[in-house]
Amino acid sequence: MSDLGGDEPQWKLPDAGWGRKAADAATLHEPQNIREYVAMHQHLKVGNGTRLLDVACGAGLAVELATARGATAAGIDASPRLVAVARDRSPGADLRVGDMRALPWADDAFDVVTSFRGIWGTTPEVLDEVRRVLRPGGLLGLTVWGHVKASPGAWALRPFRWAESSQVAHQAAMNSLGKPGVGEQLLTRHGFEAVRRVDVPFVWEFADPESFARALACTGPGYEAIQTIGEERFRCDAAQLAAAYARDGLPLRAEINLVGFVARVPAVVGAGSSFLAEPEELTPAASASYADDSAELGYVMNATRMWAHDTEALELVFKALGRVTKTAELSRRDRGILVTAAASALGDSYCSLAWGTKLAAAASAQLSAGVLAGDDSLLADRERALARWARLVAADPNSTAVADVQPLREAGYGEAQILAITAYVALRVAFSSVNDALGAVPDWQLRSSTPEAVLEAVTFGRAPAPAPTPVAGPGSS
Ligand SMILES: C[S@@+](CC[C@H](N)C(=O)[O-])C[C@H]1O[C@@H](n2cnc3c(N)ncnc32)[C@H](O)[C@@H]1O
Repeated sequence: MSDLGGDEPQWKLPDAGWGRKAADAATLHEPQNIREYVAMHQHLKVGNGTRLLDVACGAGLAVELATARGATAAGIDASPRLVAVARDRSPGADLRVGDMRALPWADDAFDVVTSFRGIWGTTPEVLDEVRRVLRPGGLLGLTVWGHVKASPGAWALRPFRWAESSQVAHQAAMNSLGKPGVGEQLLTRHGFEAVRRVDVPFVWEFADPESFARALACTGPGYEAIQTIGEERFRCDAAQLAAAYARDGLPLRAEINLVGFVARVPAVVGAGSSFLAEPEELTPAASASYADDSAELGYVMNATRMWAHDTEALELVFKALGRVTKTAELSRRDRGILVTAAASALGDSYCSLAWGTKLAAAASAQLSAGVLAGDDSLLADRERALARWARLVAADPNSTAVADVQPLREAGYGEAQILAITAYVALRVAFSSVNDALGAVPDWQLRSSTPEAVLEAVTFGRAPAPAPTPVAGPGSS
């Protein structure tokens, strides 16, 4: 689509062809691909709570169908006019105009990424972006043209070849992924595993030759041909071509060979997020907890991944924590003191770093680092009683004496509140114990989000994971 040229960034050019007749594209062209969408969603087990992104989503029919299956869907396309249709169809979906080579979502934001004839042999760099936004263990479902010439419906794509020869050559380069082994090799080079080809039916059906010509005229490659031979001739020649395939009482039918790929991001990145493999499939509760982490932190915590085996159990622990927090009237700062004191007494680096950061925000980095190191000099008297009690409960609950409870009473806490504070610490100890025993590695992101003083105070437990190094792609040395 060279006519836009000028100062437009390359990724904005497809709108000229794909978006110029957006209503036609949405109603005459896109519904033709419905079998493809349904089959791929089935292969990927898209269902309730699946966080799905459709790359090069066009007018968003695939996004709408994913939403109908219960997915929380997002989509991106370079054409503002097609995205406007997608938004009209799925007002609740996160639909963006943008370049698929720079996906505007956080790492690990999706369980599933699809792209229906949107990622090509000419755009391999998009695969790095897709891998980044997929969680470990997440799935990519991709379709590309297969052996078109051998397809019974090959005739239906012939009008695309009425474009200039350089554009036809470019189309051929785009289609390279479907050749035996090519897509597999590329996906593997870009860090995907378990790459497999899956059956994806693909059939275009048209009421008559004129509808066929009109549907093709609203596509990107159709527009390339129109730029060469003019719209009138394109429509006329395309209708004439299709007339030869017309059947009495039946629609025009063009079955075209399409290749579907399903590939997975390795479930365990680098040294692993814990001793446990991440579940192959997430329950709706686990998906929701991944989404919460992504929204709050921009990544999914390793602990969340591990607890994904029983998110409901963790929710019960947090529900109990919520209840005793209320009874004891614990502020966020109070909880920061209790958790950092207990976690450091246990030698749990993960909760020490995570809550050391929260306490630093609620008070100061010095105060937080002090509590982690056993120095309570920056605390008020009441807070000192909390920190001391948390360390006793976490380190050796059998060594406590009646006198140890007295400072809590003097701090103003009643009997029920002392029980609640003790239960709060014990529940945190239970959570930490599971994380530590099963090797949940503090997230590498904590290295940059934790204040320096807090990082220095956490001299115990497992070190945060190293930041992942990008997987080398083609052309990188
Ligand atoms: C073959 S169509 C596929 C559309 C849709 N997936 C479908 O099934 O009909 C290719 C789509 O890729 C979009 N596109 C091309 N380059 C893009 C880019 N760099 N970033 C995002 N979308 C792009 C076009 O606007 C067009 O909607």
